[in-house]
Amino acid sequence: MLLGGLGGLYGVTAGPKVLAAPIMPPDLSKCHDAKAPALHDHCCPPYDPSETISEYGFPATPLRVRRPAHLVKDDQEYLDKYKEAVRRMKNLPAEHPWNYYQQANIHCQYCNDAYYQQNTDDVPVQVHFSWIFLPWHRYYLHFYERILGKLIDDDTFTIPFWNWDTKEGMTFPAIFQDASSPLYDPKRDQRHVKDGAILDLKYAYTDNPASDSEIIRENLCFIQKTFKYSLSLAELFMGDPVRAGEKEIQEANGQLEVIHNAAHMWVGEPDGYKEDMGDFSTAARDSVFYCHHSNVDRMWDIYRNLRGNQVEFEDKDWLDSTFLFHDENEQLVKVKASQMLSPIYTHPCKCKRNVIGDCLNPTKLRYTFEQVPLPWLGKINCQKTAETKSKATTELSLTRVGEFGTTPQALDASNPLRVIVARPKKNRKKKEKQEKVEVIQIKDIKVTTNETARFDVYVAVPYGDLAGPDYGEFVGSFVRLAHGKKGSDGTQEQGAKKKGKLKLGITALLEDIDAEDADKLVVTLVLRTGSVTVGGVSIKLLQTDTPAVI
Ligand code: C2O
Repeated sequence: MLLGGLGGLYGVTAGPKVLAAPIMPPDLSKCHDAKAPALHDHCCPPYDPSETISEYGFPATPLRVRRPAHLVKDDQEYLDKYKEAVRRMKNLPAEHPWNYYQQANIHCQYCNDAYYQQNTDDVPVQVHFSWIFLPWHRYYLHFYERILGKLIDDDTFTIPFWNWDTKEGMTFPAIFQDASSPLYDPKRDQRHVKDGAILDLKYAYTDNPASDSEIIRENLCFIQKTFKYSLSLAELFMGDPVRAGEKEIQEANGQLEVIHNAAHMWVGEPDGYKEDMGDFSTAARDSVFYCHHSNVDRMWDIYRNLRGNQVEFEDKDWLDSTFLFHDENEQLVKVKASQMLSPIYTHPCKCKRNVIGDCLNPTKLRYTFEQVPLPWLGKINCQKTAETKSKATTELSLTRVGEFGTTPQALDASNPLRVIVARPKKNRKKKEKQEKVEVIQIKDIKVTTNETARFDVYVAVPYGDLAGPDYGEFVGSFVRLAHGKKGSDGTQEQGAKKKGKLKLGITALLEDIDAEDADKLVVTLVLRTGSVTVGGVSIKLLQTDTPAVI
């Protein structure tokens, strides 16, 4: 009873605060053997004890404009520069911090437990699954881009973005697929990168039988829903808080990270360790990694713009999160999440909510994105049609669906878990919805092997306590990439240590399907791949940080 009560309490806030402190960079003198079977060795960088850490002097270079990968394809001059820069990076001495593989190893260090947080001997610095996912990767790309520019002496050089949020950009970017180019990587799923196959943002290692145009529509809907359902609360989009020293929290990545995982899985090899893109320890060895993350970064920029450029987390523990990188002057520099945001407070253009105008956010980092159409922001029919709904009611194949109860349940791929969940309040007024967002919360998610795991979540309105055969609306997903770890004896360790949680906003969804007057909802969890147990499904009202705006 008592435990149940506590669980509920922690469910409402971001989790128990252990130290209430921002994530700090690790002690670089203590790099541990990163445990990832896809690596033949460790991924620690060479360590130079005489190296000092400086404050980063933000650049005063021209504003760099990142362009869509499918549109730079015919810009031979740009492509030659890009290839030359990567070639030079690959040719640097192996120990050089700018060397291509040293740069790739940075990603491994910060996601495969190479560094522990300061003053701990067992809490790794982990840059995924939380609110530091986006800022850390933004800086990672920023320095990478500037180093490439430096190598070819071009301070306007940019990494292109994989524009997977538009139909024309939904195939693997051709510029990475020329086997004679330094941008090429043979460790990819050849079925996906060769044929102009359409990227499936719900990919789970089985090919989607739907037609290309249907996959495109589903992708655009997934992106639209992700923005719409998480617009009033940044953690739903960006991930939950993580603070220094916290060990027992349930990690929760935001839906943008979930979407991004699908591209990793879809590009990486389908078998073995899923190299390169499909496993975090090797992902950044593929040049397309940076191109993919450039679009992830752009999605964040658009999200911020749609929210009127307001700071996502007015919380020192996010704003003061601090990271270390080698900059384009070979300096080891320290950067904070807040530093990249500061000019936005004074940005002169008044972005109107709901409008992508001429005012994406050029930041102190001196880059921005070329503006291209955002088809997912327009009107697309992403809800089930009325026809499907009425068919469900007349089929009379209604089944009784129970509550989740208190026992953890293993998801079963052939038999989706369906539970009936009471809503805290129905018929909420507009003002109440602006103050609190309704959220499905799935807790104690345990991925029980090191394989990639994915489940998708659907919501439907029950008929009394009965559920129709249709799962209803797709809301969002949980995805954990393969996170292989080698045990001390060299064999693969079984089972991820930490439990996770998934939070999906449904206020806008309930409006879309006209379900605001339902007392209860049927929530269906469909396991797509991997092995997962969950500890509970509930619906909560969480304080918004900005009124719903889309
Ligand atoms: Cu650090 Cu795409 O992941």
